[in-house]
Amino acid sequence: MTRSPPARIVASWAYKLLLAATLASAALPVVGQASGRDIYMNSCVACHGPDGQGALPGVPDLVAVDWPAGLDDATLLKRIRDGFQSLESPLAMPPKGGNRALSEADLRAVLEYMKAMLAR
Ligand code: HEC
Repeated sequence: MTRSPPARIVASWAYKLLLAATLASAALPVVGQASGRDIYMNSCVACHGPDGQGALPGVPDLVAVDWPAGLDDATLLKRIRDGFQSLESPLAMPPKGGNRALSEADLRAVLEYMKAMLAR
């Protein structure tokens, strides 16, 4: 015969679940580090647009070029960090999008955001 577990044990499971959920959510926002989306919306959207299609003449449509087109993260991070300009582009990508306060972790976060956004 099966019996349902005593209320005391169920309460203890519920407590552990709650504790795990609390710890997991507390671990997410690293103090001082903005999310990739926040960084994009603050420092990149003016040129790249909310969907990566380019908001200014001279900014590439990253949807149309099927970005990142095989480029690895190290190359992309370097381009975002140091800026770059290809021969055919009338406009340069400024270092860190012009926001010198961005840390290496911020650059990684915003790159991840762009990859996720453009993969849709
Ligand atoms: C002043 C406008 C401007 C801002 C602000 C800007 N970008 Fe760019 N970005 C460009 C231009 C222009 C290019 C294309 C450069 C080229 O092809 O020569 C570009 C290219 C890129 C590329 C494509 C690189 C590649 O290898 O294909 C990435 C990724 C990128 N930007 C990320 C960012 C991120 C992240 C930010 C915010 C932190 C940002 N950009 C802010 C203008 C800007």
